[in-house]
Amino acid sequence: MHCIKKITDDLIWVGANDRRLAMFEGVYSVPGGVSYNSYLLNDATTVLFDTVDKAVQHRFLENVAEALGGKKLDYLIIQHMEPDHSTAIREIVTLYPDVKIVCNAKTLEMIKHFYDFDVEPYAYIVKENDILNTGAHQLRFIMAPMVHWPEVMVTYDSAAKILFSADAFGCFGALNGAIFADEVDFEKDYMDEARRYYSNIVGKYGNQVAAMLEKLHAPIEMICPLHGFVWRRNTDDFMSKYMLWSRYAPEEQGVMIAYASVYGNTENAAEILSSRLRDKGVKTQMFDVSVTPASEILSAAFRWSHLVFASTTYNAGIFISMEALINDLTAHNIQNRTVAIIENGSWAATSGGLIREQLEKCKGIDILEGTVSIRSGFRVAGLAEIESMADAIVGTFPDLAGKKQGGQVELEVSKIVDERTMFKLSYGLFVLTAKDGGKDNGCIVNTVTQITQNPLRISVAVNKANYTHDMIRKTGEFNVSILSESAQFKMFQQFGFQSGKDTDKFAGCGYDSRAENGIRYIPDQTNGMISGKVAESFDYGTHTLFIADVTQAFIISGEPSVTYQYYFDHIKPKPQPPKKDKKGFVCKICGYVYEGETLPDDYICPLCKHGAADFEPI
Ligand code: FEO
Repeated sequence: MHCIKKITDDLIWVGANDRRLAMFEGVYSVPGGVSYNSYLLNDATTVLFDTVDKAVQHRFLENVAEALGGKKLDYLIIQHMEPDHSTAIREIVTLYPDVKIVCNAKTLEMIKHFYDFDVEPYAYIVKENDILNTGAHQLRFIMAPMVHWPEVMVTYDSAAKILFSADAFGCFGALNGAIFADEVDFEKDYMDEARRYYSNIVGKYGNQVAAMLEKLHAPIEMICPLHGFVWRRNTDDFMSKYMLWSRYAPEEQGVMIAYASVYGNTENAAEILSSRLRDKGVKTQMFDVSVTPASEILSAAFRWSHLVFASTTYNAGIFISMEALINDLTAHNIQNRTVAIIENGSWAATSGGLIREQLEKCKGIDILEGTVSIRSGFRVAGLAEIESMADAIVGTFPDLAGKKQGGQVELEVSKIVDERTMFKLSYGLFVLTAKDGGKDNGCIVNTVTQITQNPLRISVAVNKANYTHDMIRKTGEFNVSILSESAQFKMFQQFGFQSGKDTDKFAGCGYDSRAENGIRYIPDQTNGMISGKVAESFDYGTHTLFIADVTQAFIISGEPSVTYQYYFDHIKPKPQPPKKDKKGFVCKICGYVYEGETLPDDYICPLCKHGAADFEPI
């Protein structure tokens, strides 16, 4: 019996699930099963997007027939020729002999190699940016070689703004009735499987994934992948993950510790290291490589910023399961990580050097000096080495390293744009800094918003009365330091209650942290920094709205961003009841009190920058 799901008024999911498959592609365990997605577009002409694996072909064919409702099938688009999406081609052409198989030239060749029937009469060859008009929809084909095979293409429906993304944006796990990612708790229940899917299936081809994302300069309201959920909400969130993964940028600051231990001594050292790191405030995740499948450890390596490998020596080499893991990581092009190594060997420890040799071939791998070398059992003498390894690792964490230096916060920060910094933006409070010649200045603002993802742009509205406004207007550059909940009221006094025209707001701050643009930022009581280069500006009377390209962005800490509400509830001192006879005006917006008999007409609240109209007499 058919089991189909409506995606939109004229798009139907006709795929099927397999919960009996033990190993996807013969390699990856899929305890939650796997879905093979196919979609039928019921336009003036009918279009089927890909087919399914032979294991679920019967259900799929029932679904297609039901979705067609007696119509003929006009087009079968083959975006990806791998057999888990193409084994039903032959049955489709048998059941729907008028169908045209829409594919590129490479796909056509592959169909001939895989399947023994004459495909030529059905072939409808397309190339980059060709458009198939199906009636109300126009389908544009975008080549995406090596995402995951060389023939892959994706399809963009410009009318419905739907991306049919082939293997990209897929996920392990059968669909259990829900078809949309927003129908489940994706972050909690599926993100690990999405990362495992990405890292293992297309992780090796980050550049190609990035190239595909780059080519997709079009609004996307829905993503329909070949495995896993359809995305109709928060597509940008999942896109952001792909941006990170495709650049081999870690998702989180923390240490993955993978160990191979025959008699528990190497494991002992790894556990002590993990414990010391936790004491120092570093997140860790541990794996016994002989127990946990490599696909899960590879996935974790894509998540964390730091990797520790601890391995015993075996047959004068790396222990078997660790060697397999290292091979897997290098085969998947792991990059941009900080690595530390622990080795063990009863008479000739070699595993550490061999692991180092392998990982040095990867790009952007920074291997810390000081491999800890254990001779059989782990002894007290080894504790100091583990302690120094923990310190060396901590020394590479920007926020922790900064805090170690007694308030002299000097961060080692990413020179690139870490898009995760955008997640720190809220209706919060920010220190906006700028520089004009030798003069630095900053002010408090509450309006910083991400506008677009591609190109990555933010907006900030700045009161014209602020000196910082004039600097940005003149130089076209600024930094935004995102204040965290640890921000003290003094910070607001320093940057909000005085004018930079007659004060050095940075005097006595104890740091001189500058972003790549040379402008200062605030490394303390903040959780992220974004540099902007003004692309456009708009005059809104009292304020200028600057639209800026993000040129640098990085996370400073994991503390929550301060919100406007949090500021009033926890940071701003509660107003004292006015003394009898005291005359003044209170700002209705932020509660600031102006003392005096009369309020000047052009008065501007030093805190929230609202004008005299927003004040009322005490
Ligand atoms: Fe789901 Fe690359 O096939």
